[in-house]
Amino acid sequence: MTTLIAFESSADETSVAIVKDGQTVLSNAVATQINSHQRFGGIVPEVASRHHLEWITKTLDIALADAQVEPKDLDGVAVTYGPGLVGSLLVGLMGAKTFAMAHGLPLIPVNHLAGHIAAANFNRPIIFPALALMVSGGHTELVLMKEPNDFHILGETFDDAAGESYDKVGRLLNLSYPAGKAIDDLAHQGQVTIDFPQAMAKEAGYNFSFSGLKSAVINQVHNAEQRGETIKEEDLAASFQAAVIKALVGRTKRALTDFPVKSLVLAGGVAANSGLRAALTDLMADFSNIDFIPVPKQYTGDNAAMIGAAGYWNYQDKIFADLDLNTNPGLDF
Ligand code: KG4
Ligand code: ZN
Repeated sequence: MTTLIAFESSADETSVAIVKDGQTVLSNAVATQINSHQRFGGIVPEVASRHHLEWITKTLDIALADAQVEPKDLDGVAVTYGPGLVGSLLVGLMGAKTFAMAHGLPLIPVNHLAGHIAAANFNRPIIFPALALMVSGGHTELVLMKEPNDFHILGETFDDAAGESYDKVGRLLNLSYPAGKAIDDLAHQGQVTIDFPQAMAKEAGYNFSFSGLKSAVINQVHNAEQRGETIKEEDLAASFQAAVIKALVGRTKRALTDFPVKSLVLAGGVAANSGLRAALTDLMADFSNIDFIPVPKQYTGDNAAMIGAAGYWNYQDKIFADLDLNTNPGLDF
């Protein structure tokens, strides 16, 4: 049995968790700072770092107390070292290094994106080879995994990430940041009345582009205003969401057809989207030999439990770091 403590502070959530064997969450303390950033319409890095400093020891205490675990019961300290905001990452990294040094535990460097994917293990163990659709506020990628800890990017976005496009359309609709959940809810009350064009629909491959869609939504609203008309917000949300889902599902279907995988993982903040989960469930009816393993909704957003899951892969592969480990804000696979 391997029990890891994990630290995550890459963006606007400060989190410490304790995870057993990469799939059982013993505790997952998450402090969110969204309220502090909402009035700015996005994360303010300096504000984020200060909040992390304030919360890192509190979340650590809560994680240990909730799991009823003593430091002597732990086997290692997993920590996100990228991608993310450098000032935010540094706080979790310093917390993890200090804890590792104080208790004589090995330090395990974890890629935040691997963490999002590994969180599928909290649903069912991922079956390999696997395809992962990783959709968050900063990334949109189709990742092929032949085995645990083996990541090959098949396709990614050329511009905005899927979550970013939700947040930008949310700003247009005066919804508070981050707007993904609010647009998802609105979409369910509306009808698809606008057929937004899909970027790169005719191109081969597995890449995405969402900035044209965002511009098309803005143009629709402005053109309607000039005609003295208004588009119902619910219909705009439903039409936008349908276009995002069509792009994500189309590329995923192509990859599933081209690569003989045994499971499909849906991960990242946008994996909480109910329309996307439903559309992929429908798609998987055509791939009955492939197991669809979405990350459980409570672990789709940023949290340290997912870092504990990916940290376990590294622990098994004996990937450890020295105490001079630095952040890598632009880290990818
Ligand atoms: O993975 P995450 O928590 O942070 C990053 O690593 O980026 O993802 C946050 C993103 C935000 O853009 C947010 O609007 C989006 O996930 N999101 C959603 C939903 N819930 C969160 N997007 C669409 N539908 C949702 N239900
Ligand atoms: Zn994330």
